[in-house]
Amino acid sequence: MTTEPVNVNEFQGLARQALPKMYYDFFAGGAEDQHTLKENMEAFRRITFRPRVLVDVSKIDMSCNILGYRISAPVMIAPTSVQKLAHPEGEIATARAAAACNTIMILSYMSTCTVEEVASSCNAIRFFQLYVYKRRDISALLVQRAERNGYKAIVLTVDTPRLGRREADIKNKMVAPQLKNFEGLISTELDSNEGSNIELFAKEAFDASFSWKDIEWLKSVTNLPLLVKGILTPEDALKALEVGVAGIIVSNHGARQLDYSPATIEVLEEVVQAVGGKVPVLVDGGIRRGTDVFKALALGAQAVLVGRPVVFGLASKGEDGVRRVIEMLKDELELTMALTGCSNVKDISRSHVKTDRDRLQ
Ligand code: FNR
Repeated sequence: MTTEPVNVNEFQGLARQALPKMYYDFFAGGAEDQHTLKENMEAFRRITFRPRVLVDVSKIDMSCNILGYRISAPVMIAPTSVQKLAHPEGEIATARAAAACNTIMILSYMSTCTVEEVASSCNAIRFFQLYVYKRRDISALLVQRAERNGYKAIVLTVDTPRLGRREADIKNKMVAPQLKNFEGLISTELDSNEGSNIELFAKEAFDASFSWKDIEWLKSVTNLPLLVKGILTPEDALKALEVGVAGIIVSNHGARQLDYSPATIEVLEEVVQAVGGKVPVLVDGGIRRGTDVFKALALGAQAVLVGRPVVFGLASKGEDGVRRVIEMLKDELELTMALTGCSNVKDISRSHVKTDRDRLQ
């Protein structure tokens, strides 16, 4: 019997063994009752396939274009914070794995390697994720550092005016390290005898007044295309189009923010319909199988992002673990395409899946 993981889910158990409890809980956990955390995955299970047969699937092409960048498959790396708590090489290992898999990595604002260190470590296609700070000068500075260092887009996370309540972190008195991008600018190591120091930091630093009208300011400090991450309704998708975004990411922050938000795969289709093909729509949350990637594409996403599985791969096997997580999802997607009769990602259509809504009709 092999002890090597044969699917992405098995990396979670390895990560649990590899990490101190405080860090494992931080990476794995969700907000409050963790209802949405379970739903993000359960909702995929309720979608079944309508496979088509006797299609030539002897060659399968999973490659796709995201904002003009050609990647090997529609599976990208979501921004996740403080990766050195998972592995000493942190975000650099993740970036190298992204380069090896020829996909896009989104670097978190709250990273433990700097924008510059990650940029010089390899030639991965990189986007930079942003939370807006009360100190706008610091946000602007970081965006400009990303632009100077070859990051190709800004991903503004819009679901975090405050940090969600993650009870494991409060119990564990979660302590995060100094966030590298802020070194010499501000200290992010706040003392928290009460609960999680990340929560305290977010409360002190994040600008909860930031609203749609302020997007203009962000666009004025960079020439990079802007994606918004954290859209869950058609109403907000339309607002995002009005302010001129280049892409929309349907996300509930991996269920770490508002518990009882819908599973992202449940709302993807209505957002896609509202957007009407004007900009790409990506989705994340609960993607653990190639079949999940296929379902997201069938419901209109151009690509998916993967959060926790990447961190679990990193925690258990460093760069190689991240690479294997992405490769496993790609291999499973390829097989799913073969078995549903799709030789190209463009062949994946709405008619290949059946959702709860279809069953009611
Ligand atoms: C995140 N996520 C996140 N998002 C973001 O915009 N900036 C960030 O710094 C972080 N940090 C972060 C840390 C950890 C430990 C997790 C698990 C998640 C959310 C992330 O980008 C993504 O939306 C979810 O992780 C997707 O869900 P899955 O794939 O984890 O189920």
